[in-house]
Amino acid sequence: MLRFETAGESHGECLVATLVGLPAGVPISLDRINRELWRRQQGYGRGGRMKIEADCAEIVAGVRHSHTIGSPVAILVRNKDWENWTEVLPVENLPGGNDRRKPVTRPRPGHADLAGAIKYNFHDARYILERASARETAVRVAVGAMAKALLGEFGIQVLSHVVAVGPVSLARCAEWEELVALSRKDNVLLGCVDGAVEERMKEAVDEAYRTGDTVGGVFEVVARGLPPGLGSHATWDARLDGRLAQAIVSIQAVKGVEIGAAAEGAASFGSKVQDTIHYDRGESRFTRGANRAGGLEGGITNGQDLVVRGLLKPISTLRRPLESVDFVTREPALAAYERSDVCVVPAAGVVGEAMAAIVLAQAFLEKFGGDSLAETRRNYAGYLQQVKDF
Ligand SMILES: Cc1cc2nc3c(=O)[nH]c(=O)nc-3n(C[C@H](O)[C@H](O)[C@H](O)COP(=O)(O)O)c2cc1C
Repeated sequence: MLRFETAGESHGECLVATLVGLPAGVPISLDRINRELWRRQQGYGRGGRMKIEADCAEIVAGVRHSHTIGSPVAILVRNKDWENWTEVLPVENLPGGNDRRKPVTRPRPGHADLAGAIKYNFHDARYILERASARETAVRVAVGAMAKALLGEFGIQVLSHVVAVGPVSLARCAEWEELVALSRKDNVLLGCVDGAVEERMKEAVDEAYRTGDTVGGVFEVVARGLPPGLGSHATWDARLDGRLAQAIVSIQAVKGVEIGAAAEGAASFGSKVQDTIHYDRGESRFTRGANRAGGLEGGITNGQDLVVRGLLKPISTLRRPLESVDFVTREPALAAYERSDVCVVPAAGVVGEAMAAIVLAQAFLEKFGGDSLAETRRNYAGYLQQVKDF
């Protein structure tokens, strides 16, 4: 089974990931991985940290001569900022090291600071926020790029766009070609396919800048080229909708997930929201009247585009800090402020792509298996024939 783990602190030496279960022979391009890392760093509203970092993946195991070799893949992304933190977060305690710590005793509402400090019994939230930080998503995106490389071999692509920033939202569906064009842009504003709406999204971010506030929003991930039949209705944990929901909500600051037109459906009548079934005799295939289900029925892909949205809360660290309490004095205090983003919706969309790609690659390999890409291809071709003959 395809599985991955990450490790690393926001201001530590690096972020690392291991990815186990990719078949041998998947072509891997560092340029492609780094392009994804670059995309994650973009967007209007990012803070100073993204100016320091220029993320670049190093693969230290599992890929040779630009292909996976069936062994665990180990990837690392170094933190440039580490050079400013060597004395704050050393691996070994240095003489006088306590004076060089940057303790966080005024927990920030909306972060893991307080709950994590209580749970792990630290009277300083530094270690908690170092790991809870979304800096970790850099290496998730690197893993996601490898999952995309596998899916790409079978004609499956995963892209995203921003459908809302604060109160400003895109009121129409985006075309696939628009998402492709967006993913190729070398200057990313807010990742919206409509320039006029994007301009209004920018105004919402500007207002947050002006007032020392932050703003959230919604991204949409679309996967095209999926076969019908990934995931299963048979057991709760095999349902692909549930697995995608977990993956998307696991992204820092994502508080809600929507599959297809779920919210609209909940406010409508049944006759208006199901995707009617038709048959094209010329092409010998089933077709659908719409795709409100977002490509999933009964937790199984149905061959339509898979559409999943992530709803982000506004970033919790405010330049105009919120009320908190100091751990040490127990007195009211303003929450700690660390250099912070104001809006991260486009970046979160890129992370959403990575997480969706990983879940889809898992489901794909569960169904088609294969120790080598050639074997996976054979299995897939056999299944496609079965679908054709159905
Ligand atoms: C790409 C990305 C960048 C983020 N940057 C920041 C940031 O600069 N400052 C901040 O307070 N939160 C940031 N967050 C969100 C926090 O990491 C997150 O709110 C926090 O870890 C608590 O987790 P929760 O909101 O999921 O409960 C970011 C999230 C993402 C997806």
